Amino acid sequence: MTTEQTFLVRLAERLPAARLRTDADTLLEHGRDWTRLHTPAPSAVAFPESIDEVQAIVRLANETGGHIVPSGGRTGLSAGAVATAGEVVVSFDRMNHILGFDAVDRSVTVEPGVVTQTLQEYARSVGLFYPVDFAARGSAQIGGNIATNAGGIKVIRYGMTRERVSGLKVVTGRGDLLDINRGLVKNATGYDLRHLFIGSEGTLGLIVEATLTLVEPPREPAVMLLGLSGIDVLMSVFARLRERVQLSAFECFSDRALAHVLARGLSAPFDTPAPWYVLAEFDADSEEAVAAAMEAFEAGVEAEEVLDGVLSQSETQRLALWRLREDITESIAHRLPYKNDIAVRVAQVPEFLTEMQALFAAEYPQFEVIWFGHIGDGNLHISVLQPADMAREVFIAECERVSEHLFATLARYGGSVSAEHGLGLVKKPYLHYSRPAEEIAYLRAIRQVFDPSGVLNPGKLFD
Ligand code: MLT
Ligand code: ZN
Repeated sequence: MTTEQTFLVRLAERLPAARLRTDADTLLEHGRDWTRLHTPAPSAVAFPESIDEVQAIVRLANETGGHIVPSGGRTGLSAGAVATAGEVVVSFDRMNHILGFDAVDRSVTVEPGVVTQTLQEYARSVGLFYPVDFAARGSAQIGGNIATNAGGIKVIRYGMTRERVSGLKVVTGRGDLLDINRGLVKNATGYDLRHLFIGSEGTLGLIVEATLTLVEPPREPAVMLLGLSGIDVLMSVFARLRERVQLSAFECFSDRALAHVLARGLSAPFDTPAPWYVLAEFDADSEEAVAAAMEAFEAGVEAEEVLDGVLSQSETQRLALWRLREDITESIAHRLPYKNDIAVRVAQVPEFLTEMQALFAAEYPQFEVIWFGHIGDGNLHISVLQPADMAREVFIAECERVSEHLFATLARYGGSVSAEHGLGLVKKPYLHYSRPAEEIAYLRAIRQVFDPSGVLNPGKLFD
């Protein structure tokens, strides 16, 4: 018997058959994420219902030499939750309860399988706000958000998932249960292990419970969508708005990105065409705030940086404008996009973008490239679309060549090869462009401490 078969036999003694599935549909569905670049091949999918069961699974993996791939909502874009080599997928679908709310602490304690949108709705029901937000909110789970330090569209104001986590229960790769920080605001007792697990992509431990701090809701948010004359004016438009209003998002997208969204039947925001668009969300809770945003708009027009614009007049219109940005991912999904998710310092965005566009035009004219991102955070999504006449394997190989080129340039900027999607399998080969060898050696040593037998998420982050 192989080690994975022994692991399965022992798991079958511990879990009821209905929660240890090996049917083809479940293996396919839970063996992959949204990247669709790898062939899923897990040996089983386990659905634990308690911390005890998770701990038992990890201990059995250690005893038998089995391997585990943790799985949340499977909306990842770097193949961090893909099982390609007979691993057992551990799904948190059944651990999806909100366990408690503390009104004084303004914190909510949840199981890892709670869907992001469910938490957002719960926060609203208690008069507060869970600000980590992105288009996959309806499927992504909190455990996965934490494991990847999810970012999204409101980072500019509220930070990444890391900022929200005040307590974590984790089953380490050794099978130990750690109860870290327990909701404390202040805790100066040495290394804060929370932050090692946040963004570790399931390589150090499995998150089995989290306490998250909620915030005050934004005050009457409104959206202003602007058409810009070019990339070079992005930062001055940003500065003008940021000086005058309380921004909660500052996103950008190219005309091609908008064209894909409009092709699905949405209405254009205005008639004037523009090469670039920005979407700014801000608190519009007073006449002064709205007037200040209009002033920024008019100054932009005067400076010939802003070509046209629209300000939402209702909640329905605010949401409709957001769709022009949030639907980009879905609108290009049928073309097998090869995604890059990079970060540079905010001030360097225009220079980097210009250099990248020149690179693609000169070296890779065969590709349609869709540019969009969380520009207020210095985070750009660069999605290369598969040409109709290029075979899938050739396309992926070509994109890997593009990546070397792209990331070599990015390294000159001191940028990151993954701003918010994680490394998974897809970006693993490029880690060295962002982290020097001596730093990677420390990362490896940390992994060894928490998972000495290498049972958790093998092959992810680094080998
Ligand atoms: C987004 O910002 O919409 C997401 O990160 C998804 C994507 O990059 O496609
Ligand atoms: Zn994004």
